Amino acid sequence: MRFFIDTANVEDIKKAHKMGILDGVTTNPSLVAKEGVDFHTRLREICEIVGDVSVSAEVIALDAEGMIREGKELAQIAPNITVKVPMTPAGLEAVAALSKENITTNVTLIFNPNQALLAARAGATYVSPFLGRLDDIGQDGMGLVETIAQIFVIHDIPTQIIAASVRNPVHVTNAALAGADIATIPLNVIESLTQHPLTTQGIERFLADWEKAQQ
Ligand code: E4P
Repeated sequence: MRFFIDTANVEDIKKAHKMGILDGVTTNPSLVAKEGVDFHTRLREICEIVGDVSVSAEVIALDAEGMIREGKELAQIAPNITVKVPMTPAGLEAVAALSKENITTNVTLIFNPNQALLAARAGATYVSPFLGRLDDIGQDGMGLVETIAQIFVIHDIPTQIIAASVRNPVHVTNAALAGADIATIPLNVIESLTQHPLTTQGIERFLADWEKAQQ
């Protein structure tokens, strides 16, 4: 499983990129709005930081024509922009049209397996099941990721699964076990993956022993 970062914040993206673990970035309108910056300018900045890995940028239009127009505009910003489209009939139409033009797409707001299967058949490069939001309402987010992964294996579907709405380290481990190709994760969760109390304690003890030996 690969790691994307789920943010539009350039400082967070720089930190994750420096760790050498970053294979992509996902943004959404809420994340961009939080930054209070021009969307296209911010996308250019992000692409400069991360190089040629996938950077998902979401359309705002709800009709197919508008989504296709916005998607083409976004794709002009950099060749690695992936157009993020919500899971609706119009979204599927947009994915079909954009993928015919070799523009990569990420179908977002996936909450059941049929939505993922439809998105894949329309030609989506990625599907994003939101596991945290399902957990929030007492449904099985990880079960959804697992079911989609099984369906894609059975039917030899190349669309990649991005486990999205990831909230904690347990989500990350289980998404990897469930067969997600990618997990898109906020920086605080990425950082928490590096931590274990015994790691911290071990570093402290090694340093203390080192200091003692110097005296
Ligand atoms: C994914 O592409 C979305 O941006 C994201 O994971 C949504 O997460 P949230 O449910 O924490 O807002």
